[in-house]
Amino acid sequence: MRIRVLGSGAGGGFPQWNCSCHNCAAVRAHAPGFRARTQSSLAVSRDGDRWLLLNASPDLGEQIRSSPSLGARPDVGPRNSPIKAVVLTNADIDHVAGLLTLRESQAFSILANQRVLDVLSGNPVFNVLARDKVARVAMAMDEATAVKGAGEELGLVVQMFEVPGKVALYLEDASAGASLGTQPGDTVGLRIEDAESGNAFFYVPGCAQIDARLASRLRGATLVFFDGTLWSDDEMVRQGLLGKTGARMGHVNVSGESGSMAGFAGINVGRKVFIHINNSNPLLDETSPERAEAEAAGWEVAYDGMELSL
Ligand code: MLT
Ligand code: MN
Ligand code: ZN
Repeated sequence: MRIRVLGSGAGGGFPQWNCSCHNCAAVRAHAPGFRARTQSSLAVSRDGDRWLLLNASPDLGEQIRSSPSLGARPDVGPRNSPIKAVVLTNADIDHVAGLLTLRESQAFSILANQRVLDVLSGNPVFNVLARDKVARVAMAMDEATAVKGAGEELGLVVQMFEVPGKVALYLEDASAGASLGTQPGDTVGLRIEDAESGNAFFYVPGCAQIDARLASRLRGATLVFFDGTLWSDDEMVRQGLLGKTGARMGHVNVSGESGSMAGFAGINVGRKVFIHINNSNPLLDETSPERAEAEAAGWEVAYDGMELSL
């Protein structure tokens, strides 16, 4: 199974269009130790010919253009795409807006929880993905589903599971109190398995907390991509970027006693990779003490174009 990181940044990417924070200014100035990042998404394939996308970011067009295996083939007719399916972990703009890049009457499948599919069907702009070409497949929690797209089996099995999180920002219901109207299935993690070898990895780009249920699910995993949005819960507030903490945004911080590095310390995961990294996060500075601390704890920081195979 081949895995390609199409994008490793959080919503807004790096640098973010309207941000002049320390990191964004540094990457814009091509300072050493900084590299630009598009918004988070993975591409996965068993055979290198047919690909599954994990989320569709607003940067998808650019991501396809910089990934030779994702472009249309010269030998399969005038219109074709190796992208056969997209699975969605929530309805956030940085995870669904790239679906609009996949218009132009190309057949593929969208797999998501019913709550997320309802968001797509409730917004007529997604009707550009005509139902007779683009199948919308509702996935139940914890059920292993063999991925099909454009009438083909991809040889990949996806399992979706609930993780602590929050409804998409633009769907928040302030009148619902602290839950903001979040319902089960609004944020999920994925387990992707190669049907032939049985090799598997996890993709959890948004997660508010590592609870006992998630810890036991991830225990002993070969590879986990995990929410690396923020180094500390209040970093966006302290940097004057946004008046919200990570807890309020549905993202657990990386550092500290309640953070993901501590949460993973007893879980025994083979390879741990932070992804969905916000532009405010000091991990993006390859020379920072925070980056050294994460690497010393066995973590890698995903970058655009990173490739892994399992
Ligand atoms: C998030 O990860 O919290 C969202 O992408 C935020 C947003 O929609 O801007
Ligand atoms: Mn996001
Ligand atoms: Zn910034």
